[in-house]
Parts: sequence; C-alpha cells; structure tokens
Amino acid sequence: MKEQPLPVAGDPRLPRHVAIVMDGNGRWAKRRHMPRVAGHKQGVEALRRVVQACLDRGIQVLTVFAFSSENWNRPADEVSGLMQLLGMALSREVPSLNKNGVRVFFPGAREGLSARVAQGLADAERASAGNTRLLLNVCFNYGGRWDIVQAARRLAAQGQEITESSLSAALALAHVPDPDLLIRTGGEMRISNFLLWQSAYTEFHFTPCLWPDFDEAALDAALADYAARERRFGKTPEQVGGVQAAAVGGPTHA
Ligand code: IPE
Ligand code: IPE
Ligand code: MG
Repeated sequence: MKEQPLPVAGDPRLPRHVAIVMDGNGRWAKRRHMPRVAGHKQGVEALRRVVQACLDRGIQVLTVFAFSSENWNRPADEVSGLMQLLGMALSREVPSLNKNGVRVFFPGAREGLSARVAQGLADAERASAGNTRLLLNVCFNYGGRWDIVQAARRLAAQGQEITESSLSAALALAHVPDPDLLIRTGGEMRISNFLLWQSAYTEFHFTPCLWPDFDEAALDAALADYAARERRFGKTPEQVGGVQAAAVGGPTHA
C-alpha cells in the first residue's frame, strides 16, 4: 500500500490535542543496568523532543502524564528523584519553552507537593501565560478519579447543579478541548487513571516503544494511525460521511 503523506496544520486529520502516557522509563533504565531515575532523566529529553515535534507539526495542545496519584506508592527514593527532576526541569526548560511560544500548565493536586515544587509550578505557569503557539499540560500528581471528585466537590460546595457541561467546566483540563489522540508508550494497554472523563471519544494508539526512545518518527507513526481513523461519536458511518468528517466540529449532541 502506498504511504499517505502526513496531514499538515489545518487538516482535520491532524489532531488538535494529543495526550501521552509517557511510560517505560524504568524498563529503559533497567535494560542498561542503570537506576530507574536515569530512565526518568532520559524521559525529560524525550519530552523536549516531542514538544519541538508538536510545534513543528502545528499541534495546538499536548497533554502528558508525568506523575500519577498512584505513583506515590513507589519506593521513596524514586518518588524523591522524580520530585527533584521536576524541580530541575522547571528551572531549566522554562526559558526555552518561553522562547518557543509554549504555555505550560500543571493539572493535578498541589497537596503532597513540597512548597518549593508547588511554587515552581505556579511560577512556570505565570511566566509562560502569554504564549500561544502550543499549550503543554504536564499532569503531575494527577489522577482522573481525583479530577472528577475535585470537580464534583467544588460544584457541590457552590450549590451548583451537576450536569455534563458544569462538570466538564470544573475539571483540571477545562481550558482545552478533549484529546483527539492518546498515545501510550511502553506497551501496556490501559489508561492507568489518566484522562478518564476526557477520553470518552479519544482515539488510542499503543506502542511498545519505551518513552525515552520515543522520537519524531514514532510520533509520525501515531499521527498516521490517527489520520486513518473514522471518528463517529456514536453515529453511523453513513452519517459521518468518510474519514474524520465527524471530527471537524467535534461531538454534536443535536
Ligand atoms: C513512566 O515510566 C514514568 C512514571 C510513571 C513516572 P515508568 O517509571 O512507569 O517505567 P516502567 O513502566 O517501570 O518501565
Ligand atoms: C502511568 O504509568 C503513569 C505515568 C506515566 C505518569 P504507570 O507505570 O504508573 O502505570 P501502571 O502502574 O503500569 O498502570
Ligand atoms: Mg510504568
């Protein structure tokens, strides 16, 4: 079969919002007889590469899973290594994110984070607030269940009615459309408490590639996979009229 050229910015077959479960750092390190934290360090390099690739391809929103609510249950030295790495990455990466027009958000709970890390997240969000080329959500201390509960609690405290739209608007990712494409590296085929609410109609792409090895070619393979999907949002193929037609305006409830 002849390979199709990849869609470019403005083509509805290019996802507006890509989400990634960055998995496989530990195994990457283990294969090299290195400590797990070395894999996480290499994972930061992969993220830098993928942010650049998203900028180059005109993707508008990238949401990555960096630390889950459940990752606190890992050995203490790995948890503290991840916290340190985040602190370092924040101070080191923010200037170049700013230079490249990347706005960064950290969806997730602040409880449990040290005052220094929490301050670093707030500072990075503030410092990049004027950027518009790419919106990067780094989900840290995030869980899909946590998100739904905090949203429902907030609505209840305000005495608001709970509807699909009020709940959506109270979630940590209310500022972006739902992800079009969700990539999981590392070979596991599960959601592991990532975007539970938001991925109702997201297309999934699973790859055995370990996150530190993920590069432009791996991203392009995921984008090609996505471009060939037909999104129906519950309708029939006849109604949506061909590949990606339904994605143009997103789900319609009419
Ligand atoms: C993903 O890599 C990064 C985090 C969960 C923080 P892992 O650390 O889960 O790597 P594997 O799955 O053990 O290889
Ligand atoms: C998911 O990976 C969380 C992140 C990538 C941050 P895990 O490695 O924690 O997921 P499980 O435990 O294999 O489901
Ligand atoms: Mg893992």
